[in-house]
Amino acid sequence: MNLAILGAQWGDEGKGKIVDLVAPHFSIVARYQGGHNAGHTVYVDGAKFILRLIPSGILHPGLTCVIGNGVVIDPRALFAEVDELGRAGIKVDERLVISDKAHLILPYHRDLDLLSEARRGERKIGTTSRGIGPAYEDKIARRGIRVGDLADPRGLEQDVRDNVTARNRLVQDNTMEWRPVLEELLQYGERMRPWVHDVSLMLSDAMRNGKAILFEGAQGTLLDIDHGTYPYVTSSNASVGGVCTGLGLGPRAIGGVLGVAKAYTTRVGEGPLPTELFGEMGHRLRESGHEYGAVTGRPRRCGWYDAVAVRYSVRINGLDALALTKLDVLDGLERIQICSSYRCGSRTLTEFPSDLGQLAACEPVYESLPGWSVPTRGVRRFADLPEPARRYVARLEEVSGVPAAIISTGSARDETILRGDVQGLKL
Ligand code: IMP
Repeated sequence: MNLAILGAQWGDEGKGKIVDLVAPHFSIVARYQGGHNAGHTVYVDGAKFILRLIPSGILHPGLTCVIGNGVVIDPRALFAEVDELGRAGIKVDERLVISDKAHLILPYHRDLDLLSEARRGERKIGTTSRGIGPAYEDKIARRGIRVGDLADPRGLEQDVRDNVTARNRLVQDNTMEWRPVLEELLQYGERMRPWVHDVSLMLSDAMRNGKAILFEGAQGTLLDIDHGTYPYVTSSNASVGGVCTGLGLGPRAIGGVLGVAKAYTTRVGEGPLPTELFGEMGHRLRESGHEYGAVTGRPRRCGWYDAVAVRYSVRINGLDALALTKLDVLDGLERIQICSSYRCGSRTLTEFPSDLGQLAACEPVYESLPGWSVPTRGVRRFADLPEPARRYVARLEEVSGVPAAIISTGSARDETILRGDVQGLKL
């Protein structure tokens, strides 16, 4: 059975660890959207790996890792990652597959990202400045450059010239030359060539041969371009719909959907975060959860678990279950709050508002639960959790509407509680 694993909150839920953990059940791990704005952190035998573009299954020898057409690829970032993995003794050569239809992020996209943020001023998105939005803009405007285009130097030259000229018309430093951009691109194209395939065909052949695929999402549902807190979102479909469009597969290819959610909430960048904590408690969560961006190092905004947002994610993605991460970060708190609904004027809302203005006017309604003093860090069996922690998880399951099939109690692979199956997949 194929499984999609994706973020059920605003990203940074700990998807990297969960994908790495369940990857041995699959033959292929496929990324379907986003780019090197993602930072999937995986710890193996004490060594830390931050995977940005390459699927988090790469640390398991023998697994094929696929970058789908829905991903935007910065070739510099890709090769920096390939080389970094190589230095750690992880060879990607025979195991990496890249869609010929994936769009490229070029140096001018990074400049345009910065320009767009500067122009928005106070209303800036707080992007990762990686050129993600402008690359997707070019894709939608039908002027993007795709991996497959690298095989046609003549056509590529025209496209690079046009795009660099357009960039120079917009950016104050208007001296970018198209030739070095083209030359660098051609070199990358040569190096990438053995990995480039028709991903849709390759994946459907694999399925026909009985191989199971893990679909790896980046960012989170509330950052989805359509269903997130627009405009404070990323520029791709991080929700489950992205699997079909980002890999070229029909919906029946998706056997089950596992949403990853932290036992509290974080967000990096601007935009609404109803349960945000500003005082001492926000600081406490940030420090004990090491809540600093894996890619940009920016401090993350922290708040209590928002069950309204997670329920929304359950609906948007048809989640079968949750993987609940970072439970141990709540160790030692006297009381813990769960937001189970919002108050908006005189009304109580149990569904996440579609309208950003309405969301901004919402106040979280909290339930207060007792905390626990016995550490949960590293606990591997549900029964070994302190009783208040078990009650907390049970209540999160109730208010979120799906079971927690995995509970993570630390960053290492084995600091995990596995509790049953997701759509018949034994975890
Ligand atoms: P962009 O994807 O760089 O355009 O950024 C758009 C928004 O998505 C910003 O608020 C970023 O902080 C956020 N974002 C992008 N990628 C990630 C991620 O991997 N984790 C968390 N937030 C992200």
